[in-house]
Amino acid sequence: MDDGVVIVSALRTPFGKFGGALRDCSTRDLSAFVFQHVVERIALPASEVDDIYWGLATVGESAMENGIIARQALLKAGFPPETRSMTIDRACCSSLAAVDLGRRAIRLGEARAVIVGGADNMGRQPFYIPAAVRWGWRRGPLAAQDNLHELGYPGFSPVARDTGAVAVEFHVSRDEQDAWAARSHRRYAEAAAAGKFKDEIVPFPVAAKRNAVAVVEVDELPKPDTTPEALATLPTIYGSATVTAGNAPGMDTGAAALLLMSRQRAADASVAPLAEVIATASVATAPDRLPVGPAMAIERALERAGLRLEDISLFEVNEAFAAVPLVAARMLAGTDTRRRDWILDRLNVNGGAVAIGHPVGASGARILMTLVYELRRRNAAYGVAAICGGLAQAEAVIVRAL
Ligand SMILES: CC(C)(COP(=O)(O)OP(=O)(O)OC[C@H]1O[C@@H](n2cnc3c(N)ncnc32)[C@H](O)[C@@H]1OP(=O)(O)O)[C@@H](O)C(=O)NCCC(=O)NCCS
Repeated sequence: MDDGVVIVSALRTPFGKFGGALRDCSTRDLSAFVFQHVVERIALPASEVDDIYWGLATVGESAMENGIIARQALLKAGFPPETRSMTIDRACCSSLAAVDLGRRAIRLGEARAVIVGGADNMGRQPFYIPAAVRWGWRRGPLAAQDNLHELGYPGFSPVARDTGAVAVEFHVSRDEQDAWAARSHRRYAEAAAAGKFKDEIVPFPVAAKRNAVAVVEVDELPKPDTTPEALATLPTIYGSATVTAGNAPGMDTGAAALLLMSRQRAADASVAPLAEVIATASVATAPDRLPVGPAMAIERALERAGLRLEDISLFEVNEAFAAVPLVAARMLAGTDTRRRDWILDRLNVNGGAVAIGHPVGASGARILMTLVYELRRRNAAYGVAAICGGLAQAEAVIVRAL
């Protein structure tokens, strides 16, 4: 019988910036690292994990290892070969989609302990040469392609351009996005100084010169000195109306894992749960309307949970771009500006992806654990984490801190 699904362990690697200290770490190795640590933290033998649902989004990177990263990583981490796993691509939504799948498996009684989350190293995305060369290249220059440039999908605009258009539609100005980006860096710096990320970050060892090992302990992207004035001078990217390198996250690296259990399994293992997963919701809409997804998913999750917006103490909406949480707040509040301000006060209170970084496959799991730890610190009950992803999909997860 379904007695509730709880989060019993949650942690991540530090997030590395594009070309930074984690530049050469494969998604497989990052994943193996968090698999090991998420069970070790609660002293659970790896053999007790029934399933792993694992999100990725930078699929070119994992293609270099021939895919099935969850499977490869669990073997590398020393988990028993009988451990089931599935690698999931739902773009930036992948790791929250993994939470949804893990919860379903437990609720159906098919698993009792499941690792969920995701990983990415965007900077390791390879340049590629079209498959036509396999069949013979007759003549003429042969150019390598780069999927990271103008991030988007064939036949569609770059996501930064679509986001700018939706921001304009919702009257979210460039100034507002820059102010939110600066707030993200400031809030992150305050939270980091208070030691808040120590719960979630596990220092990650990387190879250094002369066979030495260097340990990466903190997120690399944050720029605490960011000001709206400096951001205002940056040019927009890829023809976007509002998005710049300053109000977007980078193309980052990291892995984030949570361990889910049935409530009974947690009790059997004498593990104190961190939070209960109350509801999940998955939505998709017109492909050029990426920023509208999180509010839609939050509304659906609230409906499923039988909760009202006012019951939510904290919101995490992934800063795929600074515009995204701002559009979400407008959609959730409608024309009620006091309600909008009430949401903004509770939204991404420790900063967001613009500061922390957005390794796309890992970010959903990251915002969920940031939410859980902050709810617990505040002795608050309900929180919601929501994320949008490629061609306008979105996920939301409502939790109750325990
Ligand atoms: C925006 C993007 C193209 C920028 O890439 P980049 O040019 O390598 O980024 P950089 O870090 O060099 O930043 C570009 C400039 O902005 C400046 N900048 C960035 N953040 C800044 C900040 N917080 N304050 C002041 N300046 C800042 C940099 O200093 C740099 O200035 P320079 O050109 O004078 O050196 C890339 O990060 C990107 O595509 N991000 C979006 C990722 C994305 O779409 N994710 C998926 C969402 S669904």
